[in-house]
Amino acid sequence: MSKILIAVLGFMLLALVRSDHPISWYREFEDISIDEAANTRNVDTGYRLPENVIPHVYDIYIDLYFDERTENPYSYDGREYIIIEAVEDDVTQIILHANVDRINAITLTDVTGAPIRLNPLQPYETVELYHFLKINLAETLTRGARYTLFIDYSNTMNVGPLKRGIWRGWYTDAEGNERIYATTHFQPYNARQAFPCWDEPLFKAVFKVHLSKPAGYIGTFTNTKLESSETLENNRVRDNFLETPKMSSYLVTFLVSETFIPIAEDLTHDPPIRIIGRSNTLGLADHALELAVKMTDFFDEYFGIPYSTLHPNLLNDHISSPDWASAGTENWGMVSYRELYLIIDPNETIMSIEHYAATLVSHELAHKWFGNLITCYWWSNTWINEGYASYFGYIATTEMFPEYELQDHFNSRYLQTSLAFDSGVNTVPMNHDVNAPLEVTGHFGTISYSKAASFLRMTANIISLDTFKKSCTYFLTSNAYEPTDQYDLLAAFNQAIQEDNSLAAYTGFSFDEYYRIWVNEPGFPILNVDVNHSTGQINLSQERFFLSSAVEPTGQIYPIPITFSTRRNPNFSLTPIRIMTTATDSVSKDAGEEWVIFNNLQHAHYRVNYDETTWILIAEALRTTPEEIHYLNRAQIVDDVFALIRSDRMTYNFGFNILRFLDREINYHVWDPAISGYTWIRNRFRHIPEKQAEFDAYVLGQMEYAITTLGYETVEGETPTTSMTRQIILQFACNLGHTGCVQNSWAKFVAWRDNNTPVDARVRRNVYMTAMRLGTRSDFDFLLSRFYESNYANDQLEMLRGMGASRDPEALTRFLSLTLTKYVRSHDKLNAFNYAVAGNRENAITILEFVKNNIDQIRVEYVEDSPPRPVHSALVNLAAYLEEPELVEYEEWLSTQTHIPQYANAIAGISTSRANMAWGTANADIILAATKDGAATIAVSMTVLISMALLSMFV
Ligand SMILES: *[C@@H]1O[C@H](CO)[C@@H](O)[C@H](O)[C@H]1NC(C)=O
Ligand SMILES: *[C@@H]1O[C@H](CO)[C@@H](O)[C@H](O)[C@H]1NC(C)=O
Ligand SMILES: *[C@@H]1O[C@H](CO)[C@@H](O)[C@H](O)[C@H]1NC(C)=O
Ligand SMILES: *[C@@H]1O[C@H](CO)[C@@H](O)[C@H](O)[C@H]1NC(C)=O
Repeated sequence: MSKILIAVLGFMLLALVRSDHPISWYREFEDISIDEAANTRNVDTGYRLPENVIPHVYDIYIDLYFDERTENPYSYDGREYIIIEAVEDDVTQIILHANVDRINAITLTDVTGAPIRLNPLQPYETVELYHFLKINLAETLTRGARYTLFIDYSNTMNVGPLKRGIWRGWYTDAEGNERIYATTHFQPYNARQAFPCWDEPLFKAVFKVHLSKPAGYIGTFTNTKLESSETLENNRVRDNFLETPKMSSYLVTFLVSETFIPIAEDLTHDPPIRIIGRSNTLGLADHALELAVKMTDFFDEYFGIPYSTLHPNLLNDHISSPDWASAGTENWGMVSYRELYLIIDPNETIMSIEHYAATLVSHELAHKWFGNLITCYWWSNTWINEGYASYFGYIATTEMFPEYELQDHFNSRYLQTSLAFDSGVNTVPMNHDVNAPLEVTGHFGTISYSKAASFLRMTANIISLDTFKKSCTYFLTSNAYEPTDQYDLLAAFNQAIQEDNSLAAYTGFSFDEYYRIWVNEPGFPILNVDVNHSTGQINLSQERFFLSSAVEPTGQIYPIPITFSTRRNPNFSLTPIRIMTTATDSVSKDAGEEWVIFNNLQHAHYRVNYDETTWILIAEALRTTPEEIHYLNRAQIVDDVFALIRSDRMTYNFGFNILRFLDREINYHVWDPAISGYTWIRNRFRHIPEKQAEFDAYVLGQMEYAITTLGYETVEGETPTTSMTRQIILQFACNLGHTGCVQNSWAKFVAWRDNNTPVDARVRRNVYMTAMRLGTRSDFDFLLSRFYESNYANDQLEMLRGMGASRDPEALTRFLSLTLTKYVRSHDKLNAFNYAVAGNRENAITILEFVKNNIDQIRVEYVEDSPPRPVHSALVNLAAYLEEPELVEYEEWLSTQTHIPQYANAIAGISTSRANMAWGTANADIILAATKDGAATIAVSMTVLISMALLSMFV
């Protein structure tokens, strides 16, 4: 098991450092894989509702109370009338979901209004584990007849977003007053906290919402248009909203506030497209509006089902919420986002956030069709919703915002993330059973987002983009407003493929089989390529790729779309020349020595290894004529080489020789996996600082050209990708102590501190982090005071990251204490903790002390039982950065904490941490020798290179 944990944790650490967007859905749940590795699956299908009774229409009255209700502040009373139908005979019990404080009354009536008697001995019961509300009848329901179920209940708002349901958050308005707002987050299984309901996606129904609140709460928004408002007693108002389309319960939402207003709007669309946020962000959402408008226009055309035709009552609102548990949530008519992603201002926003925002708005809008219009029966199929939304978040956005070059960024964001995650032994297929709530949230992870999106892109390349588009329309049209699944999707693919005869070039290829394997089998293949350069014959073989070399082969064959380029035919075409459906195969090229690269632009979901001669030809080309090889394939090679090394298929010597070309490389896509790969290694040297310093010197040597070429200043008119390259290069260089980077960052900070010269937002990350590392306690106080003053969520987040890098134990302790207050929002508490852990080598000691002294409060404030399980992650991440004496101390302390739910994970984290250090100790000399070898052979001849490779390559 420890091997698995090493792999998982290794990736997690890497994600921590790579993470530009601290918590997006796909990374948020990455940590859960630790549990997946440790726990057996929960096969208890008792979580599922029976399907003998279905809801048709919900009429829901919710009365929200804030602090004016003194005996039970921040609570709500609900009454709902649900029109239901028995779809089977002999129904004597109605089971639905409820997770509320109190059920006050339940009645059932038939269409004439006559009561149906409930069992007088026990009219209803609740089952806490499953959140079931069981209503026991004294008579039998008539199949096909409709009834009205009335439920009166009460509940309390959650504090902060993490536990979802109806929750309250806070903000400061333009006058400096602190204000409380209430809003909802129901996906995936939290509508039952707001109103008892059939809280599974397949039970689609119409919802009519009525909200009463104090009259001052005028900023009220929900899925649909307002029908009427009525004044009530006690200075209260009730807003009645028009009914929704037929949809799943998790898509219902509202926000009730005093001063949220439209902060940007486009009234030329029907419905108008509005960005809604705090009044003191008015005018700061023009960029978000442009994203929402253009992507709505795009999807209207692409799917052939315009947004305005989805339902006459639906709005097209986008809420900028100061608190949000994920990056964004696709409630129909009213999407909510973490404010971080909607308030985009080039003077205040770092490029990676601006970039991510473009994909996010598009992702959420794509869900209006894929997810809301069609919805999968159950969360086992989450990959369909999330895969399509993720695919469109990049591929569709490329059309409307070509400047972001998102088609290229897809690879590091999704494809490489998936290849890394899906190579563990505990990975799961895209389609797989989930039951318990933690499994459901766990399935909102890398496989459902990244692998599914990559699978869809690979499929589109096989069947053609036009056929893919057609299949989307067929799927949406045939299943509109209904629950659906992967079989319906396959039918839509087949319909479009047959009509277009899209697979004519691939005789004997079964699309059904391709689909079945990729959807239902875990993992992916590595393609082994063996080229006879004198004849041009290329032998191919495949096997499932595991990162651990200890895993037995499975014999699984994957259908692989084959593309390749050569020096003499470098066309990098995405159209497969064939689909390889057997264990071995062969293709040919012209005779003669030249580089050969498979998987053009790394568009398909597999890794590639080559024979030695071919690798050497590739390495030679990368060094001498790198521009001959498309940058996405240079990136692929970097990503594959690290995986080949880690899986013992390639030696460090050989791999680092291939990577030598990085010392002349400035492309973002190439550097991104390189930084990940180097980070993975250097994190294992933390306990041997001299070796780490030697390794860092090598890495910095490789980066020098990129640092010099990119410089420290944003250049007028540069592309977003260039800004992002500078961002990741400088962040890494400064972290590794690059002198120029450190000096420049410090100078920028001093100019800001002393002369109020603004720091260019695009480089704030390295400036803030470096300043806190070098600065004094008063510099920390300076940044902290700016943190309190800032009106920009992104700048605040960068400041948190900076303050986490403070070396001063007193300042760092204050920073950690700040995470226990509301000033670090719940969704940022774990981020802030992680920033501190990763900030400096010695920080872990201070953090351990802090954790020991404050564990009870941490568990409460970080909301330990919320779905991402932030306290589990915090305690595991801490272990990953402690060295031996402190690990012993941590272990001893944990032995007094066996009652905390994180105990087992933290202990496992300690053994992983030890294993990682042991790995570092065992491999440091080999790795450092490989770096020297590489440096010494920069000008070496081919023959020397070949013999060296023969000596060093693992077979
Ligand atoms: C950004 O800052 C520059 C220089 O301070 C200023 O001229 C410009 O108007 C600002 N842009 C925005 C969108 O505020
Ligand atoms: C390449 O093919 C030729 C002709 O079949 C053969 O003589 C030679 O040994 C092959 N080379 C390798 C490296 O397999
Ligand atoms: C490719 O496979 C053929 C048939 O098995 C074999 O004769 C040949 O030597 C192989 N070539 C290489 C380069 O491995
Ligand atoms: C690209 O190369 C492949 C493999 O050699 C070939 O089949 C394909 O026709 C080429 N495509 C273009 C556009 O040249």
